[in-house]
Amino acid sequence: MNILLFGKTGQVGWELQRALAPLGKLIAVDVHSKEYCGDFSNPEGVAETVRRVRPDVIVNAAAHTAVDKAESERDFAELLNATSVAAIAKEAQALGAWLVHYSTDYVFPGTGDMPWKETDETAPLNVYGETKLAGEKAVADNCEKHLIFRTSWVYAGKGNNFAKTMLRLAKERETLSVINDQFGAPTGAELLADCTAHAIRVALQKPEVAGLYHLVASGTTTWYDYAALVFEEAHKAGIKLSLNELTAVSTESFSTPAKRPLNSRLNTEKFQLTFSLVLPSWEEGVKRMLAELFITTAH
Ligand SMILES: NC(=O)c1ccc[n+]([C@@H]2O[C@H](COP(=O)([O-])OP(=O)(O)OC[C@H]3O[C@@H](n4cnc5c(N)ncnc54)[C@H](OP(=O)(O)O)[C@@H]3O)[C@@H](O)[C@H]2O)c1
Repeated sequence: MNILLFGKTGQVGWELQRALAPLGKLIAVDVHSKEYCGDFSNPEGVAETVRRVRPDVIVNAAAHTAVDKAESERDFAELLNATSVAAIAKEAQALGAWLVHYSTDYVFPGTGDMPWKETDETAPLNVYGETKLAGEKAVADNCEKHLIFRTSWVYAGKGNNFAKTMLRLAKERETLSVINDQFGAPTGAELLADCTAHAIRVALQKPEVAGLYHLVASGTTTWYDYAALVFEEAHKAGIKLSLNELTAVSTESFSTPAKRPLNSRLNTEKFQLTFSLVLPSWEEGVKRMLAELFITTAH
């Protein structure tokens, strides 16, 4: 089986290189790839890559993910998150290939306090959310054999993440303010990649599972409680921090170009039932990532 992975160096893309490898022959590209075009600002280029590789499965982890920047570059975000996605979806359909794509909790308006279901009405609050929603539609309208996974608050051990930023700030400062009125589930790139590989194996046997799924770690938290857990784990690991006061603040007190939803809870029942998988708690994943981080920084 041939698998084509776009966006191989992003948080999720990096973990997918590992998780997809045992499934078949993996060709992984990113924006800098020379042999095959992996640049989503070039829809014809990425379509040509699909025609040349002739994959059985395409996994797209490339995206314009800079939420605030997207507010001032809508056309570029649209090109990466929707136009090029439509181009690869059409090629996937022509080949009879599966297309796996990721979307976001930001397609929802963030009202209420119930976890959003796949059937709930979307109403994005920002340009990123609008372009990601257009990307979902591009996949669903153009490629029958598709899996779209909406996720939230993605972190990875590789590169920068919220926990690392909190730790850096807590070493530099004595006080920190963190938002406590946005609710969601921090979800590890490792978990997303592993679940993707399992889901692909099911989809290859049961094409009727094609569709849209919510895929996040179990449980709910706020950025404030997430930060508190990071500091608690750092304390247990004997890491010295300057921080002595963590203050909870509202989203309104932080001015950002893009508006963010308050309720990012996603209901994952459909995913867990369809693929016979169990999603672990967000704390387990975050603690594991922190343990690895503390080991690396200790040596
Ligand atoms: N991160 C989150 O919290 C989050 C939440 C919900 C959903 N998602 C979705 O999950 C998926 C994976 O996201 P992630 O967290 O892995 O994000 P990420 O780390 O930002 O990965 C996105 C990748 O796309 C690349 N990219 C940027 N411009 C490109 C271009 N013109 N052509 C090809 N690739 C380009 C980025 O490269 P550079 O780094 O060099 O720019 C990066 O490697 C995306 O669909 C995202 O929308 C993410």
